Amino acid sequence: MSQVTSTLFEATAVEPLALDVVGRPMPDFPEPLPPRQHGPARIVAMCNQKGGVGKTTTTINLGAALAEYGRKVLLVDFDPQGAATVGLGINPGEQELSVYNLLMDRTVQAADVIVPTATPGLDVIPANIDLSAAEVQLVGEVARESVLARGLRQVTADYDVILIDCQPSLGLLTINALTAAQGVLIPLGCEYYALRGVALLIDTIEKVRDRLNPDLEIDGLLPTMYDGRTRHSREVVQRSLDAFGDTMLHTVIARTVVFPDASVAAEPITSFAPAHSGASAYRQLARELIFRAQ
Ligand SMILES: Nc1ncnc2c1ncn2[C@@H]1O[C@H](COP(=O)(O)OP(=O)(O)OP(=O)(O)O)[C@@H](O)[C@H]1O
Ligand SMILES: [Mg+2]
Repeated sequence: MSQVTSTLFEATAVEPLALDVVGRPMPDFPEPLPPRQHGPARIVAMCNQKGGVGKTTTTINLGAALAEYGRKVLLVDFDPQGAATVGLGINPGEQELSVYNLLMDRTVQAADVIVPTATPGLDVIPANIDLSAAEVQLVGEVARESVLARGLRQVTADYDVILIDCQPSLGLLTINALTAAQGVLIPLGCEYYALRGVALLIDTIEKVRDRLNPDLEIDGLLPTMYDGRTRHSREVVQRSLDAFGDTMLHTVIARTVVFPDASVAAEPITSFAPAHSGASAYRQLARELIFRAQ
């Protein structure tokens, strides 16, 4: 073997090219440095009107991973089910104020409804069943689509990222989240019919961009509950790539029971099972999003 060939061979042998699940070269997302100063926050809505696709799981675990990288993170629970609140170990019934009060009572400031969590750098605005009434009550308000945006404006300077966990609907609350946000992250459960409804979601995002929020961008489509052994998981990611190109993130979240286990323990996976591949996947997602935003 010539000197040149043997050197080439060694180079390939030492550093095999990593590929993502659809065969694209996987970039090496560098570990981000902690920011020198905090704020203003990028507001990201976690959105998909299909239920059970991993919106809440992604909000909690991406939030915790960003906090590990030194970001100041605020989670807004924007689902009357309060799953993000409960998933962070906070009892919605014990909170005097929730996101409902921020929306409906002009004397309530965002700082009044923010609760710290057990994860350093991660705060939450809790939600409870009261929020289900807001959808109806907001209909009569002036600028009813921008009530959340107005409420969050007071605290954007204090955070690096604000993540809004939307409910599975495209109703007025979700329109409020999209009006407040600069970015949308779309978790896509890798199951049958995963892509059904995504066109309608994108159409809604475009309408909000045209009429209410010209800055709104899709930050990425995130395949979740991926199981490479099943044909439909592989089909979903391949079809997402065909339909949405590089909007589909390189990071994919695998299906594993550690996520429901962490929800039961009411902890982010990054502290519940810090060495688990599921925790590494959400850290990688955090790095990919920071990298894309640069
Ligand atoms: N990667 C995963 N592997 C296995 N289970 C998961 C994964 N991600 C989420 N789950 C589980 O799937 C269920 C639904 O997830 P999650 O609540 O995050 O979805 P959601 O989109 O917020 O649902 P909803 O639309 O009802 O708000 C939960 O029990 C959660 O623990
Ligand atoms: Mg949810």
